[in-house]
Amino acid sequence: MKNNLEIGRRGFIKGVGISALGAAAGGASSAAHAMGQATTLTDRGYDFDEVFTRQNSRKWIAAYNAYGEENIDVAMGTADLDFKQVPEVVDAMQDRALYENYGYEPTPDSFYQAIIDWSRERYGQEVKKEWIRTSSALKPGMVSSMRGLNPHKGKVILLTPTYSGFRGAINKAGMRVEMSPMKRVNNRWTFDLEDLKNRLDYETKCVVLCNPNNPSGEFWTAEEMMGLGDVCIDHGATVLSDEIHCDFPNKGSKFIPYATLGEKYANTSITYRSPSKTFGHACLRVAYFFTQNEDLMNATMIGGGHEEGVNTYGVLAAEKAFQHGAQWVDDVNVYLDAHHDYIYEYVNRPGEMPGVEYQKPEGLYLAWFDCNGLKEKVARPDQVEAMQQKWISEGNNRRVTPELVMQDWIARNARIHINPGSSYGIGAEGFMRMNIGVPRALLVKALDNWNAALKALG
Ligand SMILES: Cc1ncc(COP(=O)(O)O)c(C=O)c1O
Repeated sequence: MKNNLEIGRRGFIKGVGISALGAAAGGASSAAHAMGQATTLTDRGYDFDEVFTRQNSRKWIAAYNAYGEENIDVAMGTADLDFKQVPEVVDAMQDRALYENYGYEPTPDSFYQAIIDWSRERYGQEVKKEWIRTSSALKPGMVSSMRGLNPHKGKVILLTPTYSGFRGAINKAGMRVEMSPMKRVNNRWTFDLEDLKNRLDYETKCVVLCNPNNPSGEFWTAEEMMGLGDVCIDHGATVLSDEIHCDFPNKGSKFIPYATLGEKYANTSITYRSPSKTFGHACLRVAYFFTQNEDLMNATMIGGGHEEGVNTYGVLAAEKAFQHGAQWVDDVNVYLDAHHDYIYEYVNRPGEMPGVEYQKPEGLYLAWFDCNGLKEKVARPDQVEAMQQKWISEGNNRRVTPELVMQDWIARNARIHINPGSSYGIGAEGFMRMNIGVPRALLVKALDNWNAALKALG
């Protein structure tokens, strides 16, 4: 295969090639079959090369609905892992299913202990059980905090580009979104504290920090976060630190929990985490959040009316994953770090991927491509306007952005579905996001398709 580079201990050639991609395109029955098996633990660690069909997942279904199943080879939208599960999680859930009663159950201490141990062992952070509350997903917890911290509603500040779902969360809380665009320094985004200061007013009680940042992958330094925290503290704003992607640093990156920066930062923040990104547990509906500040927790629980409501399988899966999944996560990280290297080398080879640039991020299973060169060819103002008119004629009044035009062009010409930068707010112009939490074969297929389409465009 022409673009197959050496990628370290898990090369692409493991008998998984285009024939396996054929299996990936199989229907629901192959998905059901594959769902019954857990990840294989080999003497070299877990094996993530197996193409494991995820066509029951939102990201595949969204791509198929938009373009037709026969027109899409790889769906890489939502940030969601396409790997098989930590085996101990599967075993525990099977055992639980066989205990034939599903009545009310308390959340066991062992679940909280697993979170506490994971935080201590992975990030050196001490979390107390009484600080922790659960949530069916990360966003509902954050919405409750926003509501409770500002009964007068007002606005919530986002540091953009950042995760698109924050905007929906803020709207759900009945508040307004205000974007503080970050600065781009040496191919890296960082906070624009002057801009932030100008936006923090009496209406603003919360600033959302995405640590590390989805989509651009920064693992914020202590200095960056303290600078941000000091501005927020001076203006009486609570930092809502979303740390859902924290378990995916690339080599040389380090995750620093916001609440470990010091007492004053811990006291003026709430941290939100979830096993959903780390282990691929999104459908199990378990997340958690914590703060050492009882007033902030009361605001969330009482003022915000937060409902804990998590399900037994999710709790069990999270506990077992935290207890037994450290090696699995380490191995996933090695695998994904090599994916980022693979993309970097591919895009930077002379003549390949014209119009697209790629800087290796500090972590996350998201690839953030600078497609400004492509935008000049396929998403010029007249092309954006043409798509807008087409949408209007179809009864779709959503505003068309150049990035949406690129998403459409890429889907139609390269048969891959990736996310438009414009979803991530101001500052992401010309960028596109690809979920790379996939077996290497799918990544290779996606890049080969995209490369061929770009070359054909000239
Ligand atoms: C930064 C970030 N926060 C939150 C979420 C969503 O989490 P949940 O589905 O648990 O609300 C995502 C999902 O992609 C995310 O990237």
